[in-house]
Order: sequence, then structure tokens, then C-alpha cells
Amino acid sequence: MQKTLSLFSFLFAACCTVQLYAGTPVQISSPGAQTRLSVDQSPSGTISYQVSFKNRPAVLPSTLGLQLKEPAVSLNSFDIIKIDSGLVDENWKPVWGEYGQIRNHAKTLSLQLVSRNEQKIRINLLFRIYEEGIAFRYQFPEQPGLQHFILGDELSTFGMSGDHKAFWIPGDYDTNEYPYNESKLSAIDATVGQRSTEIAVRSIIAPNAVQTPLMMKSSDGLYINIHEASLRNYPAMNLMLDKKSMQFKSVLVPDAVGNKAYLQAPAQSPWRSIIIADNGADILRSSMILNLNDAPAAGLDFSFVKPQKMVGVWWEMHVGKASWDYSGGQVGSQQQSRVPHGANNQNVRRYIDFASKYGFDGVLVEGWNTGWEDWFGKWKEDVFDFLTPYPDYDLNALSAYARQKNVRLIMHHETSGSVTNYERYMDRAYDLMNRHQMNTVKTGYVGRIIPRGEHHDGQWMVRHYERVAEATAKKGIMIDVHEPVRPTGLHRSFPNWLASEAARGNEFNAWSVGNAPDHETILPFTRLMGGPMDYTPGIFKIKMSHYNPAKTEQVHTTLCKQLALYITMYSPLQMAADLPENYEARPDAFQFIRDVAVDWDDTKILDAEPGDYVYIARREKGGRRWFAGGITDEQARNFILNTRFLEPGQQYLATIYRDAPGAHWKDNPEAYVIEKFIVNNRSALNLKLAAGGGFAISMVPATGDDLKQYKAYKQK
Ligand code: NOJ
Ligand code: CA
Repeated sequence: MQKTLSLFSFLFAACCTVQLYAGTPVQISSPGAQTRLSVDQSPSGTISYQVSFKNRPAVLPSTLGLQLKEPAVSLNSFDIIKIDSGLVDENWKPVWGEYGQIRNHAKTLSLQLVSRNEQKIRINLLFRIYEEGIAFRYQFPEQPGLQHFILGDELSTFGMSGDHKAFWIPGDYDTNEYPYNESKLSAIDATVGQRSTEIAVRSIIAPNAVQTPLMMKSSDGLYINIHEASLRNYPAMNLMLDKKSMQFKSVLVPDAVGNKAYLQAPAQSPWRSIIIADNGADILRSSMILNLNDAPAAGLDFSFVKPQKMVGVWWEMHVGKASWDYSGGQVGSQQQSRVPHGANNQNVRRYIDFASKYGFDGVLVEGWNTGWEDWFGKWKEDVFDFLTPYPDYDLNALSAYARQKNVRLIMHHETSGSVTNYERYMDRAYDLMNRHQMNTVKTGYVGRIIPRGEHHDGQWMVRHYERVAEATAKKGIMIDVHEPVRPTGLHRSFPNWLASEAARGNEFNAWSVGNAPDHETILPFTRLMGGPMDYTPGIFKIKMSHYNPAKTEQVHTTLCKQLALYITMYSPLQMAADLPENYEARPDAFQFIRDVAVDWDDTKILDAEPGDYVYIARREKGGRRWFAGGITDEQARNFILNTRFLEPGQQYLATIYRDAPGAHWKDNPEAYVIEKFIVNNRSALNLKLAAGGGFAISMVPATGDDLKQYKAYKQK
């Protein structure tokens, strides 16, 4: 429910002003006046905006507009018909999330514009001014002169006030699985992406184009994050930097013939979001992107949705111990030699037993269905039917066995980019899941897209991901999407969309140069701004030489950092990605993964700096337990964790999992120490993180026995 308070008369003394006069911009501040937006019109009719944060320039004057291709009209010079402003202030409860309740509190500003050309096209420009930044979007109202139209491009610009430090990946139409680069804006060179040959499909745009969410930091300590929210029926936006002016320009993902979007009025763009803070932690505290998304559509029932933890027949393929294909002969980037088929009855039963014994909700099984012998790289249309199991995989018996053991099999639909084929089969595939009481599917889009010429991040695919979210919602199915466009908060509208990959996940550590130790300190500030990631944490056997002495790959982590990721990489779907035997070899450390919650009532970002460290504490949904996690980059660090957030007067049993002295991501990654303490809200824990390391802590209200034992232990 959106309460709109008209401030029109207050803002504009002459109430019926229809013309903004050049040199007298409209100024509007966030409710608490931290962020200020100013919108101006030049004598030639160009509309521009600028933003300041705590009186410091964050976005310099930047012009707005659109280019239509059919009809061929530039929308960059306007008359203003009407200006209106208002306030949004609502509290809402997400189905799952980092907070039990979220406040959406912003001023609004809308401009009704008409183009200064003979077509006289009307558009609305909507702004929201939050305490932590601003957002804007274009709307095309219904009008006689514009019905069906093709977008040539969006002409939004974002002027930066200096040569900021940026955490960026190459602008690309198809993939977001690049390692992050940290450089000054002036040093951006996206052609580095050409070297990432381990990525199946790359479509790099230009040397100076980057993707959003783009995280920047000015030399005087302003943190600026540019992204988009509610990406629906529109292509994703990349940002092209003009290094002379330090201004970004939007570049939308095209289709095969270079068109950007096929629209019919009424239509609208996603929101363009600019989140601003003067410290790293406040960027991570923002709920702006969620607030800019719509509540679930009436008529869709999401009561079946449940955050969950899973294990899976999965990592064993990535480490080269098992294969996806039945013949075991498939050799590719992720598989170098003949190995047995992983998704066989006996092995899957082992995982079901393991999940059941240790309290996991789901067992993902990849390679269960026919087609893997020839699934990759051929751009062929008929790869999988998503229905036919391999002969050594008894779907009936295994799904029944899983239900009997109180776990569920998690379905896998790798499309290999053949999306037309998936759309032909998906209804039958979801019915098959329903028949076997499977309520979660992991989808995947490795490879070039069919329809040929479409890109992963273009309008057609954006619509496809949404079709899948809606079709699965109607069948009571939750989804985890690999290789999709980067998320933009749509999980508010589709809470069954638990997670996406859409970035470089942990799997790259198994078979490529991997992810540098700072990777997971950057992801919360970039990819995760749009929504949860299926990062697949929890790797205990860190060096791949464990599986094959010839291998030099490794996860760039300590074991405790893998535990910390369950807190620092928020997701309502978390995998314990390593093999059962690796967990059973270390039951004490595994205990944290068993205990940790996946849904939260409260989150405290204790401290965070992109590229360096992230420290977070969270309280479980509907419970009293707190969990904390901290991670560092390649540098060892100390962190003093003040437990102020705990309930006053309550004692907690804290179990601390930390890097052992001498631990190091490269030389000694698996060394850890577990300690137990009694703590309360006045405690301070002095934590040492190894290079590439981390810590994880569970804090559970202490029982009488805990207190007695602790006293006895302290007396010793
Ligand atoms: C890439 C996905 O990210 C990975 O998780 C999956 O195992 C393979 N594709 C095969 O579908
Ligand atoms: Ca992937």
C-alpha cells in the first residue's frame, strides 16, 4: 500500500507551474535530508539530474532520455506538462530475507514530459529519493501517438565526480562469471575479459564498458553503487564510461538485429538505482533495490516457499571424481578423464542418507537425465528432454526413498542454452516434479542461447526467466537459476525464486584459476546487491591435489572462511557443497553448517570494506540464536566483535570457529580451532583471521548445564 502525499503546493509556490525555468532546478531531499536530488531543464529542453549525499556531490549533472528506433524519434528534449511530488512510507514483511520487516521510506518526484518534436511523445520520469540514494525510471503512458515501439537505446547518464576506485567486471551481453577487477575508473580495460577462456560464452561490449552492480569509492570516502531494480520485459543495462568526463552512459543488451526492446505502451523501464554511503557497511544495509520491486502479484500463492539447506551429487563432478554423463566418457573443461556416472542409485541413496542424518532439506542430483554425452558447445537445439532418467537412476524409487527419509530430491534442468527446447518441455518437467513431490529445481543456461542471436541478458531471456519464475510458482516449485541475468530484486515479486548464480561461483576454484581471496569480500557489494547467490560454500577439502596429485587448483580460502560464507553471502538456499566423506571426517567443524539458519529476522552489518573484509551478525527467523561470520581478503586481520546486539541480560553459549595460528589460505588452509565461551551483550571477542581466512560463531541462549560446565572449565 503506497500512501502518496502530494507536496505539490509546498514545493512549487506558483501551484500551476508547468514549465521549469532554466537555472531554477527542482530540488528535493530524502525524508531525513541526507540525500538531495536536483532536476533541471536546459533552454533546449534537455532534462538532467544531479545528486548530493550529506552535501557532497555524488552524481554530477547527468542528462536523461531515450532513443526510439521505430518510430525513429529521439526523446531528449522535452516540455514539462506537470511536476508532482509525494512520499512513500510503508512497512512490509518479506517471505524470507535478511530482515523480518523492511521500511520503504522515500520522497517521490514525477515529471510528465512531452517530446519537443512533431511526434509529441509523452513520457513520465519517476524519481524516488531515499536516505541512501536515489532511483529513477521512464514510463510510457498509453497515448494515441505511441503504441508499439522499438527501443534503440536508453540515454541515461551517470556523471561521477572523480576518478573513483571501482570494483568491476567487463560489460558483457552473456555472462557475469568474471573475476572482479579493482582499479581507478580511468584504468578500466574490459578486454581483460578476453583472457577468461574458462567461461563458456563471452560477449564483451567494449574496452570501457562494465556491468552493474558497479561498486565505486571516491578518494574522499564516498561509496557509490549503481544498479537497476525490477528488470522486467526489458534488457539489462551495462555502463559505458567516457574517461574524459568520467560519465557513464547506459548501454542496453541488444537482440540479433541490434534492437534493444520491443514495447507496447503502457510500458516502463526498470529503476536505475544509485546507492550512496560514507562507509561500506551502509551500502550492505540498504534495502532500496527490494523496495523498488513490486509485492507479489495477487493470485500467486507463495505459502509453499521454504528457505533450505541442501547437499548434492555435484562437487564430485567439478573435482573430476564422477561424471554427469552415463557413459562416463565425456571429457571437458570440468572433466579430464573417464570417471563413473555420479547420479546412480547407490550414490544418490548415500546422499539421501547423509542429508537425512544431518538435517538437510534437499539433495541436488545433476546428471540424472539423458543428454549429457553431447550437451555442450554445439549450439544444438534438442539436447535434454528433462523427463528421461538414465538407466541407473530410478527416479520413482529414489524420490520415494527421499520422502521416506524426510528429504526431497532437488531437480536439475540444465538447458545448455537451448531455451526454446526448455520452453517446449518445462510444463511436463514441472508436472514430473510434482508427481515425485520435488519442490525445488536448479536451472542452468550454459552456452549460447537458442533462439539463436539472443543473449542471456537481453529482453527475450529476461522474459524467459520471469516465465519460469511464474510457471514454477503456479506449480509450487522453488527455483535456483544458474547463468541468468544479474538479479535486480525480483525475488520480492517471486519469493519462490530463492537464488541465482549470475556471478563467478565457488565451482571455478575446482577447475580454473579460481576466485582470488578478495572475491567474496567484493560480491556482497556487487552481485549480491540484486539478490541472493547460490555460491555453494562449505568446501573442507581445499586443495584439488586431494583428488588428483597432479592438480594445482585450490579454493582460495581457509576452512573457517568457508563457514563464514553462510553468513556473509546471504541466501535462503545454501548448499553444503563438499562431499559427505569430507564432512564426516570433520564433524566438529561441520556442526556449524548443520546449525546455521537460512532465514533471518535481523541482520547487523558490523563492518565491511569492499575488497578487504566483511563482518556480519544475524538473528534467525522466529528464534533467539545469533550467528556471526567474518571474512578477509589475502591479508590477515584482527577483528574485535562487540556482541551489543544480543538480548540484554541473556547469557549465550558462543561456539567460535576460527583459523588456527599458522593457518593461511595457500600453505595451511584447513587448520582451525573451535572454542566455547559464555557471552552476553557486553562481551568483546578478539578474533584473528588468517590470510584468506575467516571466522564463524553461533550464539545460543545458554542452558543451566552450559553455565555450570563453563564455570567448571574456567576454574580448571
Ligand atoms: C554450470 C553450473 O554453474 C554448475 O553448477 C553446473 O554443475 C554445471 N553448469 C552443469 O549444469
Ligand atoms: Ca555457472
